[in-house]
Amino acid sequence: MLVNGAELAHRDELSGEESEAPIVFLHAFPLNQSMWDDQAPAFSDRHRVITFDWRGFGGSRLGPETATMNHFADDLARLLNELGIKRAIICGLSMGGYAAFAFYRKYAGMISALILADTRAKADTEEGRKARRDTAELVRRSGPSALVEMMIPKLIGATTLRNDPHIAERVRKMIESNTAEGIAQASLAMAAREDSTDLLERIDCPSLVVVGAEDNLTPPSEAENMCGAIRNARLEVIAGAGHLPNIEQADVFNLAIARFIENL
Ligand code: MLT
Repeated sequence: MLVNGAELAHRDELSGEESEAPIVFLHAFPLNQSMWDDQAPAFSDRHRVITFDWRGFGGSRLGPETATMNHFADDLARLLNELGIKRAIICGLSMGGYAAFAFYRKYAGMISALILADTRAKADTEEGRKARRDTAELVRRSGPSALVEMMIPKLIGATTLRNDPHIAERVRKMIESNTAEGIAQASLAMAAREDSTDLLERIDCPSLVVVGAEDNLTPPSEAENMCGAIRNARLEVIAGAGHLPNIEQADVFNLAIARFIENL
C-alpha cells in the first residue's frame, strides 16, 4: 500500500470473529514484521492483527524523503486510516517503542492501550548517537549482513543463544531481508529521536511495560523506571529472554499480553 510516498508491506489478519480492539505490532531495528509471526496467530481469533514493515525494511520501500521517527508515526496513522481503523492497541518493541512514543505525541486519540516492550523513553547520549552514525556508515558500506555478528548477541539473551540456535538464524534472516539504506536511515532516525521522558507522565491510556530479564540493550531497570513514570502501568519481566522476548519466550510473552488486554 502506498503510504505518504512510501510503499509499505503490511499484513492484516483475523481468523475468527473480531470482538476486541485491533492490535498493531511495531517491529524492532533492524528486523521486520516477521518478528511478530508468533503473535499474529495467537491473537487473530478475536482481534484484527496488523503488522507491517517500516519504510526501508522487509517488503517496504523508502519514500522520497529521508526517514525520521515522525515519518514512522505518520506512516502508522495513514496505514490505519487506509485500513479503516480509528483506534487500536499499539505494541511497539524497542525501535517500535520509539515510534509508539512519536505516534502518541501526534495521534494519542488513535491509541486505546499501549504495550511498550524492551524499549526506553530517553533519547540517545552523544556516544549513542555516534554509534548510530557508525552503524549507518557500516551498513551503507558493507550491507546488512555486516551487522549480523555485532547485533545478534545484543538482541538475543544468553539463555536463548545457548538453547535455541534456530532463533539466531531467524534473526539473521530478518536483518538480511532489509535494504542497507533503510537500516541506515532508521539508525539515523533513532539517533535524532526526541526524548520521551516527559511524555510518560502524560500517557493516560492503559499501559503495559514488558522486558526480557536478560535484556542488556534496554534492561529491566529501564523498564521499571518507565513503568513507574506512567500512571497505572503494569510491568511484566519475562524470564529466560533478552531483547526479543516475543520470539525467545513467545508463549510467556503472549500470555502477558493476553492478561493485559483481557482487563481492558
Ligand atoms: C531495536 O531493537 O529496535 C534497537 O536495538 C533499538 C536500539 O538500538 O536502540
